[in-house]
Amino acid sequence: MGSLILNASSQTAVGSRAMSESIKANNPAGTAHAAGDPRSAGTTMAIEDVTLRYGDANGVLALDDVSLKVAKNEFCVIVGPSGCGKSSLLYLAAGLNDVTSGTIKVDGREVIEPGPDRGMVFQSYTLFPWLTVRANIEYGPKRKGLPAEQRRQIVDQYLDEVGLAPFADHYPAQLSGGMKQRVAIARALANDPAVLLMDEPFGALDSQTRGTMQKLLLRVWERQQKTVLFVTHDIDEALVLGDRVLVMTARPGKIKAEIKVDIPRPRSMDVILEPDFIALKRRILGLLHDEIDEDH
Ligand SMILES: Nc1ncnc2c1ncn2[C@@H]1O[C@H](COP(=O)(O)OP(=O)(O)OP(=O)(O)O)[C@@H](O)[C@H]1O
Ligand SMILES: [Mg+2]
Repeated sequence: MGSLILNASSQTAVGSRAMSESIKANNPAGTAHAAGDPRSAGTTMAIEDVTLRYGDANGVLALDDVSLKVAKNEFCVIVGPSGCGKSSLLYLAAGLNDVTSGTIKVDGREVIEPGPDRGMVFQSYTLFPWLTVRANIEYGPKRKGLPAEQRRQIVDQYLDEVGLAPFADHYPAQLSGGMKQRVAIARALANDPAVLLMDEPFGALDSQTRGTMQKLLLRVWERQQKTVLFVTHDIDEALVLGDRVLVMTARPGKIKAEIKVDIPRPRSMDVILEPDFIALKRRILGLLHDEIDEDH
């Protein structure tokens, strides 16, 4: 899919439900959980009025006034047309690039550079090829200066968590794609980040491995209670994993709609056959198709 452009007039074509969803998405008070749910306690990540233009004033406007909040321990998913700025937004949240205007805060602290409070998992495999699985996972705790015994315990815990203990001394080149992504997840978690930023982490995997990885991620998330901001093209994946799905417009990316996923957990992979699931999927597909249609 090529990059897509949303013109100003196309925004008026958004249906009234999407408009109200859009308003909700931009409501800074909006969180994913009902009062009383422990997950509604506090915001971990706050993205406020973020605009990103690459290059000079004539450069590509990738993100236009994006605001969203991710509640503590929430699993928040972003979907949107190709080229709408999803990766750009995650890079900004990771501190790997600077906003043109606006702010991003984690636990109230402004993001100005990468930090151990944010773990990132990319679509492409980004392990250090010259380090073993163990050494890759140990990298963050070592940089933090944790003592060797504590590092060993952390690495063993996450090796177990992702089922790779027997491969601790292997090098990335000796692993399959799914195994490499499991190491990448373990490496991100070993730093005990406040937020896990995941950019299509399972995009390159076959559907069976992808399903296994989704189950693994849900298991780890339910056990570790992490705050997750997850980008995907796959609506089924978004709805199997997320507490809330944010739909972005075509470039320049804005938050177009917020869909709460009120499907009980734990969710089995068969949830995709349930009528509630299919109804949510139809809504999201409709919102995305509007964006793509408007671009052509
Ligand atoms: N480093 C860069 N310099 C200039 N423009 C860039 C850069 N990175 C991304 N862009 C542009 O910003 C826009 C958003 O790109 P981005 O990669 O964030 O989109 P995306 O939503 O992640 O797309 P996809 O779904 O295909 O991964 C695109 O038009 C892209 O060409
Ligand atoms: Mg991307």
